[in-house]
Amino acid sequence: MDIFKKCYEFQEAEKARQSGYYPYFHPVSSAEDTEIIVDGKALVMLGSNNYLGLTTHPEVKKAAKEAVEVYGTGSCGSRFLNGTLDIHEELERELAEFVGKESALVFSTGYQTNLGIMSALLGRNDVVVLDKWDHASIVDGTRLGMAEVKRFKHNDMDHLKKVLDQIPKDKGILIVVDGVFSMEGDIANLPELVKIKKEYGARLMVDDAHSVGILGENGAGTAEHFGLTDEVDLIMCTFSKSFASLGGFVAGEAKVIDYIKHFARPMIFSAALPPAQVAAAKASLQIIKTDRKRRENLWENTRFWQEGLKKLGFDIGETQTPIVPVIIGDDMLTFAIWKKLMEYGVYTNPVITPAVPPGRQLLRTSIMATHTKEQLQRALDAFEKAGKELEVIK
Ligand SMILES: Cc1ncc(COP(=O)(O)O)c(C=O)c1O
Repeated sequence: MDIFKKCYEFQEAEKARQSGYYPYFHPVSSAEDTEIIVDGKALVMLGSNNYLGLTTHPEVKKAAKEAVEVYGTGSCGSRFLNGTLDIHEELERELAEFVGKESALVFSTGYQTNLGIMSALLGRNDVVVLDKWDHASIVDGTRLGMAEVKRFKHNDMDHLKKVLDQIPKDKGILIVVDGVFSMEGDIANLPELVKIKKEYGARLMVDDAHSVGILGENGAGTAEHFGLTDEVDLIMCTFSKSFASLGGFVAGEAKVIDYIKHFARPMIFSAALPPAQVAAAKASLQIIKTDRKRRENLWENTRFWQEGLKKLGFDIGETQTPIVPVIIGDDMLTFAIWKKLMEYGVYTNPVITPAVPPGRQLLRTSIMATHTKEQLQRALDAFEKAGKELEVIK
């Protein structure tokens, strides 16, 4: 049997390409900004995680360029050996202080951060308990760990307790949730999660990829939003969203972070985050800390967008954040409306099963602090036109 047989037989992507309904891997030939160029056409960007619009900020670009001048372009090795730069450690100190934890550790991607935490912490005598909507990097991380994996229904605290009730008392337990869920933009029920984790002697980790820079008085994320920073044991985040870079970090107690540092295979056996990306993340952190107006703009734009879609009659689920799903509920209809929106000058991300449960197929839209009202209104007009033509709205 040829191991490549499955590749030769795989037809779905080619069929979709030929029918003109293939929405993935489209090259963008401009900066990732509020408007982008795809196939020579300008589109309003509603599919990026660049929530604060910092990818084109002059200070962030300048910091990245200066870092290349000083440190060169590559890290050329693992953090464990030659790859740790002084700016990695500076960034770690700044991040720990910002999110209110003793210590932080920087990884080369957000994905690797989750793999690293899980591979280091999850031993044979442990159980990891995941919300069913947790990000794939958390799920993949559990495959590198040795612990038993259990799941609870999305944000369902009664079900979580039922799952915890079945775990023997001598097991170590880690509960892991997304702070803001990446597809539907709803926020984890942290107050209840904290009560439950105490009741069961478990530890709690929050993946704040979509929350740092967005939620909380100072933008420090979900724990700050609920005033529960001391109660959340581990805060994880990526630099690929509000930080306008690449990479990720985990923050927590110094002893725990030091342990992860020495046992996380995705840290030890992969090259360190390159200097330009470290410097961009550092510069973005400074802006997150000092430029409150930017976060206020993000929330003002978010309200404008959510209300606009609701007024048109679209179902935007339970979102509480700049991630605004437009629930379509069918694979083909989701692709059809995505395609029409592209024609009408708007970029969105179609999300179908199995990434979302059947019936929850959606267009994922996400708002930036730097969108203008004119751009958002243009996008609402396109949604109205496409929605009426395909009878998604009346
Ligand atoms: C909730 C969540 N966690 C982790 C990741 C992985 O981060 P990155 O894309 O920066 O590797 C993502 C990004 O897709 C995410 O949405």
